[in-house]
Amino acid sequence: MLITGGAGFIGSHVVRLFVINYPEYHIYNLDMLTYAGNLENLKDLENFKNYHFIRADINDEKEINRLFAKYRFDKIIHLAAESHVDRSITDPLAFVKTNVIGTMNLLNAAKNNWPEDFKDNLFYHISTDEVYGSLGETGLFTETTAYDPNSPYSASKASSDHFVRAYGETYNIPYIITNCSNNYGPNQFPEKLIPLFINNIIEEKKLPVYGDGKYTRDWLYVKDHAVAIDLTFHKGKNYCTYNIGGFNEWQNIDLVKLLCDLMDDKLDRKKGTSKALITYIKDRPGHDKRYAIDANKIKKELGWKPSVTFEEGLEQTIDWYLANKKWLNNVTSGDYQNYYTTHYNS
Ligand SMILES: NC(=O)c1ccc[n+]([C@@H]2O[C@H](COP(=O)([O-])OP(=O)(O)OC[C@H]3O[C@@H](n4cnc5c(N)ncnc54)[C@H](O)[C@@H]3O)[C@@H](O)[C@H]2O)c1
Repeated sequence: MLITGGAGFIGSHVVRLFVINYPEYHIYNLDMLTYAGNLENLKDLENFKNYHFIRADINDEKEINRLFAKYRFDKIIHLAAESHVDRSITDPLAFVKTNVIGTMNLLNAAKNNWPEDFKDNLFYHISTDEVYGSLGETGLFTETTAYDPNSPYSASKASSDHFVRAYGETYNIPYIITNCSNNYGPNQFPEKLIPLFINNIIEEKKLPVYGDGKYTRDWLYVKDHAVAIDLTFHKGKNYCTYNIGGFNEWQNIDLVKLLCDLMDDKLDRKKGTSKALITYIKDRPGHDKRYAIDANKIKKELGWKPSVTFEEGLEQTIDWYLANKKWLNNVTSGDYQNYYTTHYNS
């Protein structure tokens, strides 16, 4: 099987789970190693016989076709993507290239190389709840909610979802799409809210909160997402979509305050020290007010539910970042500094 984007945040947890749980599978992790991909995330798997790494760009149509023909992948879990909304506002085209064209290249390679009956084949596409747009004070995204993306990131993911579905309808390629809410946990690149703020608190830097801080997101521990992917990959119905979420809505400002308290405790700092770093900054354009997932379909059909509470997951995440300062230092040196200055002006 092929897993794309396996050196990234969610991908590395998915690769680890599959490599350890399924010694009989030959697992190929294909990743270009952009700023977000890091082989250090998978160092513990290097000696596993069922694990192989391929450095390649999903935008390279010829190379993707060659790899499909050479390795004869039966199944694919596709996670490789440009994944950060802020970056998509600065450079939308990069998101069209990787998220839309890259996905098309994989779909075409599957279509060209898989047998006509697709008996043993599956194109499992990992997507986001952001494709559904923004909710008001109430309501939840279900699998039948109309797509209404507002950022270049979510528009590119929505487009890729449509192509996956269209290849299923038009060419019968068996697919599953899962749309998941915000993930957090170990190995997340510190441009996303939780690791960014953990890093800033460690370094006693300001905590930039967009707008009034009342944006609401549904948070899921990344290892619970990986388990949901394993279950859906093996037991989910083909030609279907499943929503995955944490049943766990938080306003950004409340989450940041909780994180501040937990960090003060872990770092033996006086309560309130980290909260003093909170700084409200100008909102970003097209900012969706609220996302919330109805994950009852996967719960009822496949028996999945999150295994940890938010407080437990957050504590495990903080512990991981504090125990892995070298990882954090490595990924926040060099280009990260330029990125940070451009986006947050400090
Ligand atoms: N992080 C979240 O909260 C979240 C929530 C729902 C869905 N998703 C989706 O899950 C997937 C993984 O997200 P993530 O947060 O782990 O992302 P990430 O940015 O941490 O990792 C993306 C990986 O893809 C690789 N990649 C990027 N462009 C590539 C290319 N052209 N060719 C090959 N590899 C390339 C990168 O090197 C990196 O390893 C994405 O499709 C994302 O849209 C993420």
